[in-house]
Amino acid sequence: MRKTGHGHTVNYLDHSRVTKYVAVEPNVHMHAELRRTASAAGYSEDAGTLLILPCGAENISTILSYLPAPHPPVDTLISVLTICSIPSPQSTISGLVTEVLKPGGQMLFYEHVLSERKDVMWWQRLWTPLWSIIFDGCRLDRPSHRWIEDVGGWVQGEGGIWGKEGETEEHLFWHRVGRFVKA
Ligand SMILES: C[S@@+](CC[C@H](N)C(=O)[O-])C[C@H]1O[C@@H](n2cnc3c(N)ncnc32)[C@H](O)[C@@H]1O
Repeated sequence: MRKTGHGHTVNYLDHSRVTKYVAVEPNVHMHAELRRTASAAGYSEDAGTLLILPCGAENISTILSYLPAPHPPVDTLISVLTICSIPSPQSTISGLVTEVLKPGGQMLFYEHVLSERKDVMWWQRLWTPLWSIIFDGCRLDRPSHRWIEDVGGWVQGEGGIWGKEGETEEHLFWHRVGRFVKA
């Protein structure tokens, strides 16, 4: 969902049309919470509308092996505060977009990213080595929104990259929200 400059709300994911939710989460301790959240939204493994995979997003052949042909199989890829923590972000993003996302499908994301301000960047780069040790590999210095855009092959004029409402530029956790549609 996004508020436009004119105050209108745009919904990019109509839940009534989502037939299956596939969650890729290597940390199995998060699975119970994922199950609970999905169940509250009406998705369950019993009904065949929820699939939780205990692998990393970079394990593309494993992900594909659980999804029915034709491939690429997925209409919408969503990343929420994940690219900060995955081990090979650029090759993972590009592999998912190329092999998992259908042509005409969309990628939606909400990530904290490397600032475009030199002073904030400096602090983000200073804190990242310590931060990533304490917070399980999470990095403050990744331009994840640009890496997604740079995969290329997106429909021109559809979607884009936005900020988080009310967030100031000085923030070490500078968030970007985005949507791209695969040509
Ligand atoms: C900062 S946490 C955010 C959790 C959740 N997305 C949220 O918004 O609350 C980062 C998440 O990325 C997951 N993660 C780490 N490596 C991953 C990988 N290779 N593939 C997919 N997810 C991964 C972690 O297990 C963790 O759940």
